[in-house]
Amino acid sequence: MKKTLLVAALALASFLGVKAQTEYVPTEANLKSREEFRDMKLGIFLHWGLYSMFAQGEWYLQNAVPDRYEYAKVADAFYPHRFDARQWVRSIKEAGAKYICFTTRHHDGFSMWATKQSKFNIVEATPFGRDVLKELAQACKEEGIRLHLYYSHIDWMRDDYPMGRTGTNCGKTLATADWDNYYKFMNAQLTELLTEYGEVGSIWFDGWWDHEEDTVPFDWQLPGQYEMIHRLQPACLVGNNHHGAPQEGEDIQIFERDLPGEMTSGFAKHAAKVSRLPLETCQTMNGMWGYKVIDTNYKTADDIIRLLINTSGKGANLLMNVGPQPNGELPAVALDRLKSLGEWTSVYGETIYGTDAGDIKPQKWGVSTQKDGKLYLHITALNEIEMNENGERILHLPLERKVKSVTEFVGGAKVNFKKTKECITITLPGKVDVVDYVLVLQ
Ligand code: GLC
Repeated sequence: MKKTLLVAALALASFLGVKAQTEYVPTEANLKSREEFRDMKLGIFLHWGLYSMFAQGEWYLQNAVPDRYEYAKVADAFYPHRFDARQWVRSIKEAGAKYICFTTRHHDGFSMWATKQSKFNIVEATPFGRDVLKELAQACKEEGIRLHLYYSHIDWMRDDYPMGRTGTNCGKTLATADWDNYYKFMNAQLTELLTEYGEVGSIWFDGWWDHEEDTVPFDWQLPGQYEMIHRLQPACLVGNNHHGAPQEGEDIQIFERDLPGEMTSGFAKHAAKVSRLPLETCQTMNGMWGYKVIDTNYKTADDIIRLLINTSGKGANLLMNVGPQPNGELPAVALDRLKSLGEWTSVYGETIYGTDAGDIKPQKWGVSTQKDGKLYLHITALNEIEMNENGERILHLPLERKVKSVTEFVGGAKVNFKKTKECITITLPGKVDVVDYVLVLQ
């Protein structure tokens, strides 16, 4: 009976001209790349594009510019003479990050590589004339850093992109929309990215939500696009910042400014369900993604380190953003934060890289991670654990597993503990002066 129904459905689908959806089965290479991704834990997001020239964040065109052609003129003055891909990659690597996600083309439609699909790109439209993506890809390869590519589904500049709820103020009209043409354009660009720049760790899509409120559901034709990506580079992970549960053909699940499942950002409308795919949380270092001159509200080094610890405690990666300046340099404050991250990861890296979320769920005092028979307790708020009259803090953990030893991660000093059948009680000092006091339970 079921079979007959399936045959009938397929027949109807082909009658309607709809290509029957085959279930996505990731290749071995893709599965391996997912595992490697899961282990990396820290990546750096780089939002750099024409918008950086205005120093008003990457939404400037939509937020303030009435004429997109006036905006585009600034390309003729884009000359980031301090751009040095090798220096970027080294600072990022020293922070302990394992991958970079670079904005190849953001919503303003400007391409940061030598694309043949549009003249609105860094090589043809600027006096700089260098393919910065090529230089970045080369530097990443030499330094052993994975390169992920952000790609916007939205385009506020092109006439053929069928405008959604954004890009409405800069002089575009719906009358010129031509989805078929735009879809072909995107796929031709993606083909360039996946065939001319070496191994691409991931294509990171953004903008799906532009048509979220359409009365007639908008068909982005994602399955075909995803299939093309996987055909060109089977190990390339597809991620989409649509704020929802993963869709067929996606390899990672993305959370914008949100820890998986917490839904505190207001974006994660449908993303309550945390999938079994590798997880990634993206976050800004200050307030905006693209360079914004008035945005000095940087998170402290300790805040960023805690973010990394908390995402690791959820089994997720942290993709921490930096917005390079118009001259091509990373802002000094960002460099300073990267340095602090590096000081922390060089000591504590073992407790996050290659780990899974620990058996102890996130608590007010901190989180846990685990690997190779070790459970790492990351105590980031010791004062959340009550103090006894001897000035000690007593931590009761529901843990059924056998525990051989409890030691301080730094220095390896033994820590007193008692184990009952389903609980372990650990006696901690009253005070510690580190951002993350880590204990190792063997
Ligand atoms: C949002 C914004 C975009 C930014 C992205 C990063 O989708 O539209 O500007 O690139 O978040 O997560």
